[in-house]
Amino acid sequence: MHLNGTSKVNNKGHLEIGGLDTIELAEQFGTPLYVYDVSLIRERARGFKQTFDKLGVTAQVAYASKAFSTIAMVQLADEEGLSLDVVSGGELYTALAAEFPTDRIHFHGNNKSKEELEMALKHGVGCIVVDNFYELELLQSICEEMETNAKILLRVTPGVEAHTHEYITTGQADSKFGFDLQNGQAEKAMKAALQFSKIELLGLHCHIGSQIFETAGFLVAAQKIFEKLNEWKESYAFESKVLNLGGGFGIRYTNEDQPLPAGQYVEEIIEEVQRQADHFAMNMPEIWIEPGRSLVGDAGSTLYKIGSSKDVPSIRKYIAVDGGMSDNIRPALYQARYEAILANKALEKAEETVSVAGKCCESGDMLIWDIPLPKSDHNDLLAVFCTGAYGYAMANNYNRIPRPPVVFVENGEAKLVVRRETYEDLIRMDLSIKEKINN
Ligand SMILES: Cc1ncc(COP(=O)(O)O)c(C=O)c1O
Repeated sequence: MHLNGTSKVNNKGHLEIGGLDTIELAEQFGTPLYVYDVSLIRERARGFKQTFDKLGVTAQVAYASKAFSTIAMVQLADEEGLSLDVVSGGELYTALAAEFPTDRIHFHGNNKSKEELEMALKHGVGCIVVDNFYELELLQSICEEMETNAKILLRVTPGVEAHTHEYITTGQADSKFGFDLQNGQAEKAMKAALQFSKIELLGLHCHIGSQIFETAGFLVAAQKIFEKLNEWKESYAFESKVLNLGGGFGIRYTNEDQPLPAGQYVEEIIEEVQRQADHFAMNMPEIWIEPGRSLVGDAGSTLYKIGSSKDVPSIRKYIAVDGGMSDNIRPALYQARYEAILANKALEKAEETVSVAGKCCESGDMLIWDIPLPKSDHNDLLAVFCTGAYGYAMANNYNRIPRPPVVFVENGEAKLVVRRETYEDLIRMDLSIKEKINN
């Protein structure tokens, strides 16, 4: 059993998180329930920030709020002095509701609407990460209309794609995001941005993938960017004040995952950027990163109650929980793997191998295949670990299942930060066809 952060097994043999017995949390808040270990989120945030501080590099660590966007989480990011990456009007709205300082918000997205850009400018969003030519022109015209200026980064695709242990240099332009560095698009965008009077080009951004366990992909991306920056310095006297190398730092979901400590990614990135800057006789840019999963992923666990079970003789045993792909779509979407324990029998030995099914009407709604567990009964509590990123964020109402609540735990205290959806919530946007039509 691999326990993260403040998770431990107490003397009743129950899983405890943040100093609280998960059995009591389940009784108090019901199941399914997302539980976040707040101290672990703080520890992760500080880990990233301290490495930059230690090496004396000007930096911004922006929490990629797509991983888990709620008012409380955004407030926590603010408490930890993080910046914030948002990718939609909705995530921006959440940040505004949380009163997050707007100058530390970075606005991403490959198809931002006019209304979203206006909203960002109206609220003084610190940086817009421009993704394409349409957006660049739209932004200039909105700035003219609103008589304001925008600070931007250009999102570029450096031809490096990284995933877990591998990275490939694709040199390809086939991505829906950003300006290709190799085929001249990025250069064209940079020239246009420099000419637009209302736009201040701070630098470049790239994001090479997610769940990355090696630093090589980041380093190659930095090298490729610097090669271009060197050309641009000579031809256009452009120097990038900021270099944002995105997120994607991996976490441990199962034994097979062996991520590096957060600090190591950051140290190696800083060293490479410094090396490149020295090599090309450029000023060291500010380094920005935008981790999502690695800040909140392993701090989140989901508690489920076990209901029915089904033995398929000589094949497998299914146990079904009171949630599923409606609160965690990652296994169905991309075969994501998780570990789990029986939270009320945490000291008991594994006796059987079972597969954990969700309750949605979909054969693909399986949370975990073939996991060893102690003998389980109805009403046992299953804790699935590392559900903190892209769990609640991707939760949905398939089969009209209400989304679970979210509780933050820290130092023996539990705080409900998202309440459970009710059936009334589910139909609140529905309109009857039986209403009278007013003429
Ligand atoms: C541009 C950008 N930045 C940051 C992230 C966060 O990635 P992760 O949660 O893997 O750290 C993503 C994820 O898709 C992204 O697209």
